[in-house]
Amino acid sequence: MQILTTPHELSAQCQTWRTAGEDIALVPTMGYYHAGHEDLMAYARTQAQRLVVSLFVNPTQFGPGEDLASYPRDADRDAAIAAAHGADVLFMPEPSAMYAPDHATWVEVPELAKGLCGASRPVHFRGVCTVVLKLFLLSQATVAVFGQKDWQQQAILRRMVRDLNVPVRIATRETVREADGLALSSRNVYLTPEERAQAPEIRKGLLYAQRLVQEGEDKASLLREAVLRRWAERLPLGRLDYLSIVHPESLAMLDSVSGPSLMACAVRMGKARLIDNILLRPCPER
Ligand code: PAF
Repeated sequence: MQILTTPHELSAQCQTWRTAGEDIALVPTMGYYHAGHEDLMAYARTQAQRLVVSLFVNPTQFGPGEDLASYPRDADRDAAIAAAHGADVLFMPEPSAMYAPDHATWVEVPELAKGLCGASRPVHFRGVCTVVLKLFLLSQATVAVFGQKDWQQQAILRRMVRDLNVPVRIATRETVREADGLALSSRNVYLTPEERAQAPEIRKGLLYAQRLVQEGEDKASLLREAVLRRWAERLPLGRLDYLSIVHPESLAMLDSVSGPSLMACAVRMGKARLIDNILLRPCPER
């Protein structure tokens, strides 16, 4: 595996592969790998002849007061994991290599970025879209793989790619979870033992909503209230950022679960902000 650190090196290597007729899969990451990242890499490895993994804690997707400085990092361990999953290149640029001091160009999908995580992280998706488009251009990837835990992110990136005719296929993989249901996240290391013990209640609340839907409840407001009541009892260390039911592609708020519906949430626990989601399947008899 080559470790490349400049956009020029990445672009030149990928151009050589594409000229030779080889296709390229890209897994964009911010590092501190867990089994979820490994799943993305293992899947990506099967999708193209070449695998590029990027490891870049992208400063432009962090707002003021967020955890850019403390974001967990372990580059040596990450490099060993990427190599073990057959990456041909690990791209690890410095921020100064990705952003000129007078960087002034941004990619935004405001309609899809204004709600859910975007409501409390106003610059986040602008930073994500901008860096991911740069990675698409540098890598000439034919397929890029993202996790479904970041549902809003993948929905926004799909729209960006469609609207700008970027020749890359976005593939997503199901969220990888701990045995007790907690979605894997690099930020889980921020949890204290007490917070970690309660955190699986996030997933349990979403599964409870799914059960209510299967029993015939379809009103979004009632489903939301039921989950919030449950969390008030069982997740006292959690502070709600949002819990919403939206259309999975347009991310528009829904009043009822009568078709494809995504229940998505963000809950703050101490220093961590945990996100999760579930696709609610309407009751078959309805
Ligand atoms: O999901 C992430 O880890 C990041 O948002 C991404 C896609 C690597 C862009 O920095």
